[in-house]
Amino acid sequence: MDQNQLKQQAAEEAVKFIKDSMFIGLGTGSTVFYLVEALGRRVKNEHLQITGVATSSRTAKQASALGIKMIDLNDAPELDLTIDGADEVDRNFQGIKGGGAAHLLEKIVALNSKRNIWIVDESKLVTNLGAFPLPLEVIPFGVERLYKRLAAKGLNPKFRLDENGQRLRTHNKNFVIDLHLKQIDDPHALADWLDHQTGIVEHGLFLDIVNQVVVGRENGVEVLDAGRG
Ligand code: 5RP
Repeated sequence: MDQNQLKQQAAEEAVKFIKDSMFIGLGTGSTVFYLVEALGRRVKNEHLQITGVATSSRTAKQASALGIKMIDLNDAPELDLTIDGADEVDRNFQGIKGGGAAHLLEKIVALNSKRNIWIVDESKLVTNLGAFPLPLEVIPFGVERLYKRLAAKGLNPKFRLDENGQRLRTHNKNFVIDLHLKQIDDPHALADWLDHQTGIVEHGLFLDIVNQVVVGRENGVEVLDAGRG
């Protein structure tokens, strides 16, 4: 099976966690694409009353086109469940997200949700975080100063570029800097430091957030419980 089939498998298992009348956060990325497809089918075939909140315009557009009712987070109660992808998940159920530059909206939605499920193919499971570059969403004003500070701390920053070689702009017109760290020994300490750097709007460390991880594996789907209730 290729990686996309494993992603699809995880997504189709995770969609079973969605029940009628739920308010659902929908993440962003290629794995979530399969989830939204599967949810669209369920909404149509089972006449489910699901209300979704999207973490990107891509997801919002796809979900609306499939007949899923979408609303703004400002108009929603606390979400019952958010299902999203991830770039890395370690053995303590800590994660890196933001490969699709949507981690700011994804974190806001995740933290306004009673439960969070991540859907991944097995290549995303790691012992330690950090092989995947850690994304930061940063304010363009004064960004060269911030970049120098990150470099001076040995965090190996690189601006993320778009397909035209220009600095990528996020949904909120910010830049993305990826930290090429190879290994993050203490994710909480790094998150705490990043949280205190003015100019960084949000980093892609998603710590103590996920409840369950649905993993697409060669030999079937596995649901891992993070033990967070
Ligand atoms: C977007 C994300 C995605 O969830 C993450 O990059 C995984 O993407 P994919 O499902 O395409 O592998 O964090 O910002």
